[in-house]
Amino acid sequence: MSAAVKISFGSLTAPKGSALVVFVGADMKLAAAVAAQTGDLEPLIRAAAKAANFKGAQRTALDILAPAGVEASRLIVVGVAPGKDNAPLDFVMLGGFVFGKAAGAQKVDVAFEGPAGQWDGAAAADFALGLRMRGYKFDKYKTRKKENDEENGAPPEFVVCSSHAAAARAASHERFAVAEGVELARNLVNEPPNVLFPAEFADRAKALEKLGVEVAVLDEKEMARLGMNALVSVGRGSARDSRLVTMRWSGARAKRGKPVVVIGKGVCFDSGGISIKPAAGMEDMKGDMGGAACVVGLLHALASRKAKANVIGVIGLVENMPDGDAIRPGDIIASMSGQTIEIINTDAEGRLVLSDALWYAQETFKPRLMIDLATLTGAIMVALGHEYAGLFSNNDELAQHLAAAGEATGEKVWRMPLAQAYDKLIDSKFADMKNTGGRHGGSITAAQFLQRFVKDTPWAHIDVAGVAMGSPSSDINPSWGSGWGVRLLNRLIADSYED
Ligand code: BES
Ligand code: MN
Ligand code: ZN
Repeated sequence: MSAAVKISFGSLTAPKGSALVVFVGADMKLAAAVAAQTGDLEPLIRAAAKAANFKGAQRTALDILAPAGVEASRLIVVGVAPGKDNAPLDFVMLGGFVFGKAAGAQKVDVAFEGPAGQWDGAAAADFALGLRMRGYKFDKYKTRKKENDEENGAPPEFVVCSSHAAAARAASHERFAVAEGVELARNLVNEPPNVLFPAEFADRAKALEKLGVEVAVLDEKEMARLGMNALVSVGRGSARDSRLVTMRWSGARAKRGKPVVVIGKGVCFDSGGISIKPAAGMEDMKGDMGGAACVVGLLHALASRKAKANVIGVIGLVENMPDGDAIRPGDIIASMSGQTIEIINTDAEGRLVLSDALWYAQETFKPRLMIDLATLTGAIMVALGHEYAGLFSNNDELAQHLAAAGEATGEKVWRMPLAQAYDKLIDSKFADMKNTGGRHGGSITAAQFLQRFVKDTPWAHIDVAGVAMGSPSSDINPSWGSGWGVRLLNRLIADSYED
C-alpha cells in the first residue's frame, strides 16, 4: 500500500550505494565481471565466511559491515551454490531473499552476475520482481510508523547492476505489470470489511477502466431480475447491497474470439449468517473475497501488460450476515439455472454465489474455458495445508496447464477428484440439491455442487482457502493477503491462451 520499492537497472560499474550485494557459490569466487569492478574481495570474503561458517548455500548470506577496501558500508555476500536436488535458481525468490537481507540500508547496488557469469536480462527482471513483491507493505491504517525496520521503516532503493541491463529493463515492464496486479489483490484482501463492502469493491474494479478494461456492474435489483436468487439470497441478511462485476479485456487479434472467463468468490465478510461462525478468528473472514481479489488483480496485470488474449473476469460480491431477513437453514431457493437448492447451512454460502456467477458467465459469454477461484472450504486446508491450492477440473488438458503454470510460478495446485459417488452426497430430500454434503470430503462435495452449474465448458475450480490469506510468510510474500493466483493465471494465459 505504501509506494512500490524503487528499483532501477544499471551497468556493472563501480558501486556507489551504501550496501553492495554480490553472489558466490561454495568456492567463494566472484564473477569475473564483478571482481573487475570491485577489486579482489576474495580474501575478505573467505576470512569472513570462515568466521561465520558460511558455505555459500542458497538462502544464506554473509553481512560484512564496514568492509575494508570497499566503498559501500556493507558487503552482503549471498549464497547461490546449487542444492542437493540441483534445481535451477528461482530468481524471483532470490530477489525476495535479498530484499530481506538488505533491510536497513538506504541504497543497495546488486552486482547481478552469477559466479560463473551466466545470468541474463530475464533473470534480472525476475529478481527485480522478487524485490518488489517482498517490498509490499499494507500500513495505511497505522498512524505511528517506526523507522528502520523491515516492517515499518523506509525500504532501500535498489539498483540491479547487470551486463544485460537494457534487456533486464525491457523485461521488467511485464514483470512490474504483474507485480501491480499482485499488489492490488493483496490490498483488496487486506482491507477491512467496513471499508471494502460489495459496492466499494465494485468501485475498485471499475478503476480498471483506466487501463482499457470494460467494466459492467449489476446491482441487486438487476441480479434479481436475471433470476440470480442463489447469489442474492446470500446477501439478504446484510445491510450492504450485493454486486456482480464483469471485467472484459479484449487483447487478442480476434477481439470477439471466445474468451477465457475467470470467476471469483467475493464474500466481503463471511460471518456464517444464521449458521454463525465461532468468534475466534472470525476477523479473518474479511479475506473471503480472495478469489475475487485475484480476478481483479489478474485483469489489472493483463491489461497493463497488454496481453494478447480475450479474458473476462466475473466476480460475485456479497456480505454474509445474520438478520431477520437472512436466509435460513431449510429454505429452498431457485438458482438462475432453474435448479433448486435446499439450504442446510448458511455458512456454505460461497457455492451459492458461484453457482449463479458460473451459470451467468457460461450463458452470457460462451467461454472457451472457465476457471473459478474461491476461498471455499476450511476442509481444503485440512487436506493440503498452505502449500498447494486444491484443483478440481472436468478437463485434463486444462488441469495440466494449470499444474505446469503452478510449478513455473510457485503458486502450486494439487488436483483433487470429482466423481458420481461424491455428487450424490448433495442430493436433497426436498430440492434438486442441498448446499452441504456432510463432514467428509467437504472440499470435494463443494466442488461437486459447483459442477452442477457447468455444462460441457472446460472448467476448473481452485479452492484457495489455504493460500489466499494467512499462509506463512515467504521470501516473496510478507503480506497477510497473498495475492495468490495472479501470477499463476497470468502465466497460464501467457503460456497457453495468448496469440
Ligand atoms: N469462507 C468459508 C471457508 C473458509 C474457512 C475460508 C476458513 C478460509 C478460511 C466458507 O464459506 C465456509 O464457511 N465453508 C464451510 C462449509 C461448511 C459449512 C460445509 C466450512 O468450510 O466449514
Ligand atoms: Mn461460509
Ligand atoms: Zn465463505
